[in-house]
Amino acid sequence: MKIEWIPDYPLDDECIQAMEKAADQCLISEGIPFPCSITVRLCDDENIRRINALHRNINLSTDVLSFPSVAYPAGKTASACQHLLQKEYDDETSACFLGDIVISVPHCLAQANEFGHSKVRESAYLLVHGICHLMGYDHIKEVERLAMRKMEENILSSVSLERNMEDPATQTIQPDEELIAAAREAMKMSYSPYSRYPVGAAIRTEEGRIFTGCNIENASFGLTNCAERTAVFKAVSEGFHRFTAIAIAALHPSWPCGACRQVLNEFAPGITVWTTAEGYPVRMKKLTELLPESFGPKDLQ
Ligand code: THU
Repeated sequence: MKIEWIPDYPLDDECIQAMEKAADQCLISEGIPFPCSITVRLCDDENIRRINALHRNINLSTDVLSFPSVAYPAGKTASACQHLLQKEYDDETSACFLGDIVISVPHCLAQANEFGHSKVRESAYLLVHGICHLMGYDHIKEVERLAMRKMEENILSSVSLERNMEDPATQTIQPDEELIAAAREAMKMSYSPYSRYPVGAAIRTEEGRIFTGCNIENASFGLTNCAERTAVFKAVSEGFHRFTAIAIAALHPSWPCGACRQVLNEFAPGITVWTTAEGYPVRMKKLTELLPESFGPKDLQ
């Protein structure tokens, strides 16, 4: 992969080298037999926010943006559209231009810290994520998201940058994909005209049933019910009191609020909590980590 770097913000050579290796692997994994090129701008949060506002009408900073040169037909990725890529051939670089990527370096470093990854893994991950978009991958529909995640992890493990499985934040147990998908669906039902912060939740009973919930706001703000409590109350009102896991879907990965932690603790102090947001890795914690030294039914026995 030929990369034209636009280094508006500095990043270590070690990261750049890993990114270049991962970029080459993207073409190999996708099965593209000819050279391709991209531009990669490394900038700060303020600049990525400006670019996001200008081109996508979203006035927020983010980790990575990608602008593909090819409009792939629905459901198709680069390997199936090589004729479209070849139209982007550029004599100057002797390669087919896939598009532009913008990465916020401060955002990348903060995420590496938050997820317990090295900055090398996080910067390579963001570039691979951007290149996957330039190759036609997307994460709007659940099936597409899973295909994109699988592709990203295959590429990163081929260059020995797989997730650090020792890290609890990146979990060693398999995510409950069915529960996570149900939380994402439930998020669509959110009634949140005041905060404009939709949240969905899905809770799994010991019997294996799933109950979903969304946040339901009220003009009298204090009466708002969170997604997690909606899901718990729906399940309890149907006679289910024992739970193994809950998944939460929101605009960014967030853990249940204090009130919801206490309500979950009432029924399932050992529950597993998954959190998910589009464009972020799924994360898991136990309620015992989120609400240590809890007060609950055990104290009243
Ligand atoms: N919210 C939830 O649904 N779950 C949480 O754990 C935190 C917050 C909702 C409540 C409100 O509708 C919106 O998010 C903003 O606080």
